[in-house]
Amino acid sequence: LNSLQAPRQPHFEREPSPLTLEQILGYVTVRVSPENYLALCEELKLELPLPPNLETAVPKRQALYLAGRWCARKALQEAGLFEPPMIGTGPVGEPLWPRGWLGSITHSQTHVSAAVFQPGNYSGLGLDNEIIMSEKTLAAVKSRISTEAEQKQKPTEMSERLYYSLLFSAKESLYKALYPTVQRFFDFQAAQWRDLGSGQCELQLTQTLHPELQQGLCLPGLYQQIGDQVFTAVFWCKRAD
Ligand SMILES: CC(C)(COP(=O)(O)OP(=O)(O)OC[C@H]1O[C@@H](n2cnc3c(N)ncnc32)[C@H](O)[C@@H]1OP(=O)(O)O)[C@@H](O)C(=O)NCCC(=O)NCCS
Repeated sequence: LNSLQAPRQPHFEREPSPLTLEQILGYVTVRVSPENYLALCEELKLELPLPPNLETAVPKRQALYLAGRWCARKALQEAGLFEPPMIGTGPVGEPLWPRGWLGSITHSQTHVSAAVFQPGNYSGLGLDNEIIMSEKTLAAVKSRISTEAEQKQKPTEMSERLYYSLLFSAKESLYKALYPTVQRFFDFQAAQWRDLGSGQCELQLTQTLHPELQQGLCLPGLYQQIGDQVFTAVFWCKRAD
């Protein structure tokens, strides 16, 4: 189990995970400091492989990739897989989970999280973490990330920057939750986000993405704002019938 001990130098610190993910078996979050990216990379490279396309990447990218893999393997270990294998990377960047397991990885500049589960109650899970977008970014991306209906539904008590950051992050979580099944790109018009209050939300598919993911299907999600960041999770629970 030595390979899953935290790095000898504390280049990252374990933190309580930001969301309450029921029935998710393992969920690990660490905080990283941008000034430690280089040291963190050097430390984690001793125990985790980098895919060839990241060998020449900047330290920030390498550090966040490796910390994501570290969190994912730690989450598998805490979920009961005591000798977790290395988690590979698929053709479009998706993590390749050990047989019988699924999960999701996300990173911002300062936080890295991974959650894992065994398909059963859930068929898909996506996690995402974003820095709340600036006014400038919002103006540049608003029409690409939101539908016209979402633009009309913004709750008056929520700032535009928070609303669109939550909507964007939840849609990225949705993408990660469904990609292993859908196996192709789908854009931000494919679902509509709705705030349900108290950190709960839902995403309704506006198009059929797969025989089991028909237009109109609603998927539950969770969100949390901490400081200048938002954390989201989206679940796909197949109906039992
Ligand atoms: C793939 C994508 C969702 C990643 O989100 P991001 O905010 O850029 O980055 P995050 O740090 O949160 O997540 C990155 C991690 O997601 C995982 N990931 C990448 N592609 C993935 C995919 N196709 N399926 C599942 N997980 C994926 C990887 O583990 C990656 O980290 P790593 O490269 O270090 O292993 C995003 O870049 C993207 O392509 N979005 C467009 C598609 C979309 O969101 N459509 C909306 C549908 S409503």
